[in-house]
Amino acid sequence: MSLSLLVFYGSYRETRAGIRLADYCVRTLSERGHAAELIDARAVGLPMLDKRLSDYEPGTAPAAMTALADKISAADGFVFVTGEYNSGLQPGLKNLIDHYYKEWRRRPAGIVSYSAGRMAGARSSYAWHPTLTTLGIAVIPATIAVGAITDSLDSASQPTGPGGEALARSFPGFADELEWWASAVKTKREQD
Ligand SMILES: Cc1cc2nc3c(=O)[nH]c(=O)nc-3n(C[C@H](O)[C@H](O)[C@H](O)COP(=O)(O)O)c2cc1C
Repeated sequence: MSLSLLVFYGSYRETRAGIRLADYCVRTLSERGHAAELIDARAVGLPMLDKRLSDYEPGTAPAAMTALADKISAADGFVFVTGEYNSGLQPGLKNLIDHYYKEWRRRPAGIVSYSAGRMAGARSSYAWHPTLTTLGIAVIPATIAVGAITDSLDSASQPTGPGGEALARSFPGFADELEWWASAVKTKREQD
């Protein structure tokens, strides 16, 4: 079943490295036959949270905010590519996510973490669970964690070295799991 999947990434840094992993996820999911789209928080450019989408009077929210709401509502599943800042979440991604609420519900998500070091963003991966659960997202048990991010993916987002090999080896199992849950949800949503 071909699925509509959104891959979220939220670093605003000029020299950001995690975009390599986000691009890898989009490319690899596309190669598996899905409509996978990168949602780059920096490119979307939502303001620092003032009003959630639901707080705006109808027709007054920024166009980029409503356009993304439509994409989130229509998607079959999500991937959150998350780096780790001081053992916690990246604020750009958290800011984007908090603009929405009902748009997220009843879809699965996989978490793909990374960092420059050996922890591979594992602490931020776990830190996302309560937030995503609060939004009604079902976090799948399969995860990906990539350490030494710039040694594991080159600037063309191709896997390199032992970290890249591990990513290429583990991604199919992660994608299988996401596809199972997203297919089940898609079927159920079509019946409702
Ligand atoms: C503010 C800041 C805090 C960081 N904290 C951590 C950390 O807690 N653990 C870690 O493994 N790496 C940490 N790093 C290094 C990041 O893993 C590395 O810079 C990574 O490339 C950040 O993702 P990005 O390039 O996509 O923004 C930190 C980097 C920054 C800029």
